[in-house]
Amino acid sequence: MKVTVVGAGAVGASCAEYIAIKNFASEVVLVDIKEGYAEGKAMDLMQTASLNGFDTKITGTTGDYSKTAGSDIAVITSGIPRKPGMTREELIGINAGIVKTVSSSLIEHSPNVTLIVVSNPMDTMTYLVHKTTDLPKNKIIGMGGALDSARFKYRLAEAMEAPISDIDGMVIGGHSDKGMVPLTSHATRNSIRVSEFLSAERLDQVAADTKVGGATLTGLLGTSAWYAPGAAVSALVQAIACDQKKMFPCSTYLEGEYGLNDICIGVPVLLGKNGIEKIVDVPLSDAEKAKMQESAEGVTKTNGLLELS
Ligand SMILES: NC(=O)c1ccc[n+]([C@@H]2O[C@H](COP(=O)([O-])OP(=O)(O)OC[C@H]3O[C@@H](n4cnc5c(N)ncnc54)[C@H](O)[C@@H]3O)[C@@H](O)[C@H]2O)c1
Repeated sequence: MKVTVVGAGAVGASCAEYIAIKNFASEVVLVDIKEGYAEGKAMDLMQTASLNGFDTKITGTTGDYSKTAGSDIAVITSGIPRKPGMTREELIGINAGIVKTVSSSLIEHSPNVTLIVVSNPMDTMTYLVHKTTDLPKNKIIGMGGALDSARFKYRLAEAMEAPISDIDGMVIGGHSDKGMVPLTSHATRNSIRVSEFLSAERLDQVAADTKVGGATLTGLLGTSAWYAPGAAVSALVQAIACDQKKMFPCSTYLEGEYGLNDICIGVPVLLGKNGIEKIVDVPLSDAEKAKMQESAEGVTKTNGLLELS
């Protein structure tokens, strides 16, 4: 199992570290455009191997995609992150060019690769990969919902003063401050609906805090977060690498599912060795359906900024 991670910055390096620590991949290749940066991150991470007890071989390269040849999975984190006060959508100008070039270089050397898109605005970058490459749609996966769901569970646990391992919940929709749709009506603590423990007002607050989860951290850190994004990517990579058939909300190309067409947006999917193996149809309340529709309109508007010709 060979995994390439493009972008050896905060998210890329964190993702490589979590993949290595979980010890399921034989090789992780880090790629960056900054001279020596990926090589340096790879060497630093390899020097944690004897301490953290993993055998995954991590190497780095400055833009030499021949080193990524034969990758089973590749993660695209290259691009600029947002600064405090910025929206993810504002990154489109620079990141679209980077994602287009990087995805084509990856596929040239690994025609059977499964791509996980992380760079923002993620749903639109996933759509861009869908429109500009020949990869089948099950092999193009946008990571956002896994992270947003982890943030939702964190906020629910905090509100209930419960251990996070008691909590289950999911966030679908666009990966943006306005577009996320936390599925509060489906969230549970040990299979009991969270509405049994928290008032409607408190649940609204949990949903609102979840939606600005990334912006809150950007305000505190001065750049976007990396530990939880890296962990979320590594969970998706592991589900595919180990054929786990696990369910995560991921951005995927929809053709009628959830009443949506010609869009990549977060919906629950099953991940296994073939990438997205199934889109799971979850019954939504009328309010959740309306939020999903509104979210899709936002993503479609951002997609309209792409120059696809
Ligand atoms: N989808 C999500 O849930 C999620 C979460 C967090 C961050 N992000 C996004 O991930 C991206 C990376 O964030 P970060 O915090 O790691 O940023 P970062 O600046 O720390 O790292 C980005 C890296 O990409 C490299 N890079 C730029 N152009 C490249 C190219 N053409 N080829 C190879 N490498 C290139 C840069 O040199 C840099 O090292 C941002 O767009 C950010 O908004 C997405």
